Amino acid sequence: MSRSGKVTVVGSGFYGSTTALRLAEYDIFETVVLTDIVEGKPEGLALDMNQSRSIEGFETKIIGATTTPEGAGYEATANSDVVVITAGLPRKPGMSRMDLIGVNAGIVRGVAENIAKHSPKAVIIVVSNPLDEMTALAQLATGFPQHQVMGQAGMLDTARFTNFVAEKLAVPVSSVKTLTLGSHGDTMVPVPSRCTVNGQALTSLLSEADINELVDRTRNGGAEVVALLKTGSAYYAPSAAAARMAKAVIEDSGEIMPVCAWVDGQYGISGVYLGVEAKIGRSGIVEVVETALTESEVAALKVAAEAVRIKQADVKDL
Ligand code: LAC
Repeated sequence: MSRSGKVTVVGSGFYGSTTALRLAEYDIFETVVLTDIVEGKPEGLALDMNQSRSIEGFETKIIGATTTPEGAGYEATANSDVVVITAGLPRKPGMSRMDLIGVNAGIVRGVAENIAKHSPKAVIIVVSNPLDEMTALAQLATGFPQHQVMGQAGMLDTARFTNFVAEKLAVPVSSVKTLTLGSHGDTMVPVPSRCTVNGQALTSLLSEADINELVDRTRNGGAEVVALLKTGSAYYAPSAAAARMAKAVIEDSGEIMPVCAWVDGQYGISGVYLGVEAKIGRSGIVEVVETALTESEVAALKVAAEAVRIKQADVKDL
């Protein structure tokens, strides 16, 4: 099996370390680099992951590197093809993702600047919260073209929606297709008109009230996990989503995924990072794919766009 490329995961918390392990277990990359500002943590995790290779049967090497906010240690990330930024604080119970904007903006800005210095060609996948704003900030801080920077949210929110539909109807998740667009927050736009079960419209299988309940649970999917965990936020489904996006980039797969991408005219919306469907490839976002939505779904997407536009305008000063 041929392996190629280098992916860096910034942040060795549960989200970052689980993403790094998933990426390594795909066995498609030459190298996975895991970093953190906590001295020894990424090296220790990398050592532990490497020791699982003979059991799990993968050859990708994991390298741990302690970094500093001033940029020490970033040499280990040099010439990465893909960088997943998980750095920042997670929510505590009762917090919204937006409550993290002040503290995480400083962290994400510093990381993005250091990454840009060492890996000018990397495709950046941001997962730090608040997601849409941190994605916009990473693009500003790197100075990279917009297509080279994207955020992870739609893959996760869609996976949550799919899981809830499958559980409600007691069917395999593989028979369910759902979609969520908009922001990774209050203005998330789950799209029931695009949901099917074995090719049948969801709207023909569940009542409007039932669908609304699943839509609400999807919108609050992250908070539900945070409330149960009490410390930290979700990471199994989020890391699966981020890792799949990185895989699509390195394999130049052309897969269409719901992601946070720069929108430039689609749906009559321009100049904002927003959750939409996009074709993913080696250059990052190959194109935003505009699909058929109902009038009310487009209206909800526009509301989401305006909400995140205001916040994204603020991030350049944070
Ligand atoms: C969530 C966080 C990771 O939705 O944004 O679980």
